[in-house]
Amino acid sequence: MYRTHTCGELNAANINEEVTLCGWIQKIRKLGGMTFIDLRDRYGITQLAFNSEINPDICKQIEPFGREWVIRATGKVTERYSKNKNIPTGDIEILVTNIEVLNPSQVPPFTIEDESDGGDELRLKYRYLDLRRNPLKNNLLFRHKLSIEIRNYMNELGFMEIETPMLINSTPEGARDFVVPSRVNPGEFYALPQSPQTFKQLLMMAGYDRYFQIVKCFRDEDLRADRQPEFTQVDCEMSFVEQEDVLQTFEGLIRHIFKKIKNIDLPKVERITWADAMRYYGSDKPDARFGMKFVELNDVLKHRDFKVFNEAELVVGIVAKGCANYSRKQLDGLTDFVRRPQIGASGLVHITCNQDGTFKSSVDKFYNADDLKAVAEKCGAEAGDLILIMAGQKLKTQKQLCELRLEMGNRLGLRKAGEYKVLWVIDFPLLEWDEETQRYYAMHHPFTAPKPEHEAMLESNPGEVNANAYDLVINGNEIGGGSIRIHDRKLQQRMFKVLGLSEEETERKFSCLLNAFQYGCPPHGGLAFGFDRLCAILSDCDSIRDFIAFPKNNAARDTMCNAPSIISQEQLDELRIELKK
Ligand code: AMO
Repeated sequence: MYRTHTCGELNAANINEEVTLCGWIQKIRKLGGMTFIDLRDRYGITQLAFNSEINPDICKQIEPFGREWVIRATGKVTERYSKNKNIPTGDIEILVTNIEVLNPSQVPPFTIEDESDGGDELRLKYRYLDLRRNPLKNNLLFRHKLSIEIRNYMNELGFMEIETPMLINSTPEGARDFVVPSRVNPGEFYALPQSPQTFKQLLMMAGYDRYFQIVKCFRDEDLRADRQPEFTQVDCEMSFVEQEDVLQTFEGLIRHIFKKIKNIDLPKVERITWADAMRYYGSDKPDARFGMKFVELNDVLKHRDFKVFNEAELVVGIVAKGCANYSRKQLDGLTDFVRRPQIGASGLVHITCNQDGTFKSSVDKFYNADDLKAVAEKCGAEAGDLILIMAGQKLKTQKQLCELRLEMGNRLGLRKAGEYKVLWVIDFPLLEWDEETQRYYAMHHPFTAPKPEHEAMLESNPGEVNANAYDLVINGNEIGGGSIRIHDRKLQQRMFKVLGLSEEETERKFSCLLNAFQYGCPPHGGLAFGFDRLCAILSDCDSIRDFIAFPKNNAARDTMCNAPSIISQEQLDELRIELKK
């Protein structure tokens, strides 16, 4: 046997056993005539002990050893003189009688310990070293456990995991495709799937009425903490269902995950319509761990001479509880916050509700005490509170106030780690108008069904059509999304037309799906969870990168493998690709 045990399993019960361990040298310590090596593998750390009086030869042999050397050590398990209560193997050590170098190591470019001294880029370049550290190892273990729990639940409910192809025709999910040139079909390209959307619908047509897959998806979009160009979805689809069936099934999955992974009994997942989410939180993915809901103030603030409010489509405020004592500097800081280019507001109005029942505002010139009292009453603000108000074009102002609400939530410690608020956001609009291109886009994707009662106004009033579409939101993060699909060829063709697709384009991109609709397509629907995001949120972590073994950096590069990179002229010629100079 190469090794008899791992470095994480020996304890007092093994004392006097002869064992062989393999692993990496984490640390070497010399104390008088004794040398100690912390030997590490995936499972833990075991202390190796070397006594120069008992075994001078071995002590000589280990003299050149350094961090990260890979060694094999044989010896007897003995009770440790000074025990380490922090690790499971802390009661014992191995008195080594034989040692073998399996591979020496250069000095690693950063320390491989729980707190490393390496910067992000350096650690990404040497990801295989970074992965030796406990925090990342634990994240990958967490990811593995989560995938097992998901598979168990889905299997229990009769869902079949089916793989779908990676070299496909483009599936529109709103991002750019990564494309792969075809050598045998010069001038033609595959796309890597942004999601398996078309294929899972085709599987429903094939009769596999409960499908799921933990699957890689590819989207060429700008990176953020919660976005990678290559990420993983838990992709699911069901036949003969309505929205309610899908919501119930996957609420079950989420509850199963919380119970198994976090030992949390999740209360019933609340539902909020898209319209209410926008009205009360200014976001389709509200962080509902705290209140501070928006209050629309048009009726109480648009009757005086204040132009900014009078010209605004929406005047809307939030109440920051107990913040009436904010200093001038703090208030200016909030104004600066909303004026930052990322938020882009022109200003912020504040009303302080003083303890003595009076008010002070930044618009005292325009509003008297009764006006301010009316605002406070409408907002439910009490003495000691601070009201923050923004105004302007509706959607823009909602988004800006949403940022301020989240900032205030942070400042007031209301966005607590370890607390989870899970929501279904339902009744999304089917379409979204884009000013720049002057056309509608599908808010979810073009296969999403309009609400049956709204179908008739698809052409006459597209902006008012709602969809049977839903998102799962946890603590302000979009963790999953899905919809009931169109399963009628004519309706799908109408949808493509509303989206401004020509017949030629429809034929080129979607003929397969449209044809399949003609051969007995069951009503169906489903959703997909962002698996990396689910891992991160359940670990109270912002960045999904920490849960992906080999992620890309912020410039979408894999600096470890040097991808993307140029390819040889021969390869380009074979693919008949000519690069522009
Ligand atoms: P959607 O585009 O909403 O739906 O994606 C589903 C979920 O995938 C996650 N996600 C991402 N995670 C990391 N990096 C990215 N770049 C990224 N993009 C998306 C999000 C999101 O909620 N086919 C549909 C699903 C369906 O209708 O069934 C789809 O892909 O958590």
